[in-house]
Amino acid sequence: MNIFLVGMMGTGKSSVGKLLARDLLIDFIDTDNEIESKTGMSIEKIFEERGESYFRMLEKELVQKILLRNKVAVVSSGGGLCIQPGMMKLLKKQGWVVCLWASPECIFARIQHDSTRPLLRVPNPLAEIKEIIQSRKNTYRDADYIIETDNQSPNEISSQIKEEYLKQFGKS
Ligand code: S3P
Repeated sequence: MNIFLVGMMGTGKSSVGKLLARDLLIDFIDTDNEIESKTGMSIEKIFEERGESYFRMLEKELVQKILLRNKVAVVSSGGGLCIQPGMMKLLKKQGWVVCLWASPECIFARIQHDSTRPLLRVPNPLAEIKEIIQSRKNTYRDADYIIETDNQSPNEISSQIKEEYLKQFGKS
């Protein structure tokens, strides 16, 4: 059973995914990293030179590729991936979808010194984070399992997800 980690930027999907995959002894895929290595361009550059819709198309193509693999993986997805039409439904059909949740303030504190997120390069990033959460929250909250991350370390979050995964799916 593939595990898809979804949720806002700055909720720790990449760090948690890596730990979880290591712990469960299964492959790890980070969609942003895959796209960067496939295109040889950074996410910022893709947005800048080809636009967001091109990036969204690359994300969709990558999901199709992941679903064709014959090995399971922990997949850490970019924050907007599951928001694309029909995507959440598809991910839920093909795997177990875990949403990492965090408050806007916590996300802001985590990402304020990181300039790699094109969507947050605006005069008031905190307000932008609130707005994006508002527009995406119904989809994020439709995940199979939601975990609050504000006061937890990546290790604690990963253990909690692992425990729930084993409870629901055993060692399959
Ligand atoms: C995005 C999130 C980013 C990256 C891109 C767009 C989004 O990934 O895919 O900047 O739309 O929320 P992270 O969630 O890993 O920051």
